[in-house]
Amino acid sequence: MCGIVGYIGSKDAVNVVFKGLEKLEYRGYDSAGIAALCENEICIRRSVGKLANLKKNLLANHIHSNTAIGHTRWATHGKPSEENAHPHTDSQNNIVIVHNGIIENYIELKNDLHKEGRLFKSETDTEVLAHLIERYYDGDLFCAVQKTLSKVRGSYALCVLCKHEPDKIICARKEVPLILGIGTGENFIASDIPALLPYTRDMVFLENGDIAQVNREKIAISDILGKEVQREKKHILWDALQAEKDGYKHFMLKEIFEQPRSVEDTFRGRIYPNEGKVYIEEIKLSAAELKKISKIYIVACGTSYHAGLTAKFWFEKFAKIPTEVEIASEFRYREPILDKNVLVLVISQSGETADTLAALRLAKENNCQTIAVCNSIGSSMSRESANTIYTHCGPEIGVASTKAFTGQLCALYILALDFAEKKGTLCESESCKYIVQLWEIPLKISAILKKSEYILKIAKELAHKKTFLFLGRHLNYSAALEGALKLKEISYLHAEGYAAGEMKHGPIALIDENMPIIAIAVKSRVYEKIISNIEEAKARGGAVIAIVNDCCKEVEEKFSKTICIPESDDIISPMLTIIPLQLLAYYISTILGCDVDQPRNLAKSVTVE
Ligand code: F6R
Repeated sequence: MCGIVGYIGSKDAVNVVFKGLEKLEYRGYDSAGIAALCENEICIRRSVGKLANLKKNLLANHIHSNTAIGHTRWATHGKPSEENAHPHTDSQNNIVIVHNGIIENYIELKNDLHKEGRLFKSETDTEVLAHLIERYYDGDLFCAVQKTLSKVRGSYALCVLCKHEPDKIICARKEVPLILGIGTGENFIASDIPALLPYTRDMVFLENGDIAQVNREKIAISDILGKEVQREKKHILWDALQAEKDGYKHFMLKEIFEQPRSVEDTFRGRIYPNEGKVYIEEIKLSAAELKKISKIYIVACGTSYHAGLTAKFWFEKFAKIPTEVEIASEFRYREPILDKNVLVLVISQSGETADTLAALRLAKENNCQTIAVCNSIGSSMSRESANTIYTHCGPEIGVASTKAFTGQLCALYILALDFAEKKGTLCESESCKYIVQLWEIPLKISAILKKSEYILKIAKELAHKKTFLFLGRHLNYSAALEGALKLKEISYLHAEGYAAGEMKHGPIALIDENMPIIAIAVKSRVYEKIISNIEEAKARGGAVIAIVNDCCKEVEEKFSKTICIPESDDIISPMLTIIPLQLLAYYISTILGCDVDQPRNLAKSVTVE
């Protein structure tokens, strides 16, 4: 939800900020803008739509400057338009701001500012911040920002420039991420790591309530009351190239093809197939504490929620702990029964999703044990949770989550095995068997990826259809939900994921020859059941495209098309069945000419409720 970048140093600041925004465009692409200090004046360029439009604007009207801030917007308050595009200024154009987040009391503040005769140029909540800073400014920008923030409720990551103090950028964060990149004779600010990687690997993650003064040579961080605070500098090992397309047409395709590596990176050093042991250094929960856990709540949104639905089977089967899976936006507003013997496990690629973060905080308020499974290093959830397991997927840029999903499944599977080991609920030979199953996953994913041409062919036959049904059962019910989500979010086609056994209780009425059925029918304990469910659907005229195992060729004639994938224990099969579904969604989207990496109305990191 919006990306911000700032730079102060001796480079071409507008270029640095623009390149940073390109790395953050996944966070929003309704409009973009840059403000720079230029001969003691503030110069602004803003354009509606994607960054390509801002690029044209900048080429025609370049600004030479060593200090700049920029923003790429996902609209919340006010439609996507040039007036509502950031940066926003005060009434005298002395102060300029970019902001990610929501100022919840902006109407009340705006009314007060109106009464003082201040005129607003946009419909945004952000503009009140520029006017408040102006109101409090008496020659000290830091103090004016501090006073302003003491008046606002809501969330923010922001950067502010003032033409009277050209040697600094003031920035601050609450609830949404902001990172400082430390250079030599230059410093950087950004919402996310990839924007900083081309310049520095030394980063400081601001904490909630931090306000920082960023000069060329130094940074100084204070809390909201102005008391200086120290924040640890972290060295980030992510490869800058991981944030590039690397010859692939889209980030999504690159990320689908990265999965053998990202899964392996996530389990490397954590599983030992020969000894049948797992080792997760990050989990501080002792065996004694674990034995007291009476229930696990897995809480997440979207794709991460689907990973949670799969993981429920593992925590129950391996560790024998009753597990419930909840959508974060529902969980946080009911009154779940929480206490110190409940483990709340949040899953989030970004580690910043507002509802999931709120669920984590609710868990902490109720003294629950907490674990976060995150991909983004230094994210809010990873800092606030008592325990964090990182998925080592590298930056995921495509808005549709792919490698993060399989990375999450991998981390959750290992975690469930770790719990089982600590609780003694699996014997050594069983542990060994399950660990070997995971060990073999990267090779099996590679084998499926080799079928991409064939899946493209199927996509060509399906792309003109308007509505799709995805069927799965047992562990692969969540894979069916995830497959349908992938298709709808990047192709704008209606797709419904359903538990195959539930079809006959209503949805079967929808099926006719215009509705293709994508069915997951790999070998499992419910194999015969799902075959019968598919037969029921097929009898109503729907063409069936089935994901089957190599060893099940005998069922091929039952289906219009089959996609054969390597066999695995059914307990881990969603890590494989999801791969053809990701490819199918990707190809249908490209055939329809949709914007795969930046689908309409979406943003990668949902930091608003
Ligand atoms: C779908 C997708 C979203 C995210 C959801 C949660 O492809 O990417 O559904 O999974 O917004 O995001 P995180 O995992 O960052 O909390």
